[in-house]
Amino acid sequence: MINFAVPASFKVIALEDVGSTNDEARRLALSGAAADLVVVTAQRQSQGRGRRGREWISPVGNLFFSLLIKLDGNLAEAAQLGFAAAAAQVQAFQELGLGADFAAKWPNDVLVGMDKCSGMLLEPVDRDWLILGIGVNVVAAPPKGSTPYPATCLADLGYAGDKDQILAAILTNLLPLIQGWRTRGFGPIRDAWLAVARGVGGEIVVRLDRETLTGQFAGLDVDGALVLDQRQLGIRRILAGDVYFPS
Ligand code: BTN
Repeated sequence: MINFAVPASFKVIALEDVGSTNDEARRLALSGAAADLVVVTAQRQSQGRGRRGREWISPVGNLFFSLLIKLDGNLAEAAQLGFAAAAAQVQAFQELGLGADFAAKWPNDVLVGMDKCSGMLLEPVDRDWLILGIGVNVVAAPPKGSTPYPATCLADLGYAGDKDQILAAILTNLLPLIQGWRTRGFGPIRDAWLAVARGVGGEIVVRLDRETLTGQFAGLDVDGALVLDQRQLGIRRILAGDVYFPS
């Protein structure tokens, strides 16, 4: 297993108890005290949030952090960074020697087999900052039936190390993708994500707020939209929804 340290480009602010690390990061951004690549972590979150208004159950021992990324007014492209973070996590977990079948799931989840072990919530602050909030199930996963997807944790794969090592491994893999995005755009991130993505080319089910779609997962558009080929019904671009893989 490689021994990772947080790259010097990041500044980690380690807190004990917070409502949500995303809220702490937002406070920093709004107060003018934020800097690019500041990372807010916490031991405990009492109001962890997930995507689509869901709660993010946050037991002590799991990893919660929010990374502030300075935008140059390019808010429309900021969602691309979620794909960088998902790819970086898959790479990190593989390098930590967990030896499992890790993959990225659209838009920003990380799976072990078919079970979710990490989720991500992207929130902009004005047009100036992106908050990339990541929760990794290290020691515990939500109980079966309490989440829309089955979940697992790294301890169930035999991981007995500490969560700071996981944070360092993720940030180490994420840094070159953020730097590459700033100079070369989405291309390198898109390639990195597609290399570890689950289900591309296969049949999927996508649940939207008011409808459920089926079709072939035909690819990832430049803005991060999922491209769904519904054959006779045509091509649909999906910007928000839950993906399921029919067994
Ligand atoms: C999801 O899969 O629904 C996204 C989960 C995101 C959870 C993380 S934990 C750190 C940060 N703070 C929050 O309140 N949410 C994100």
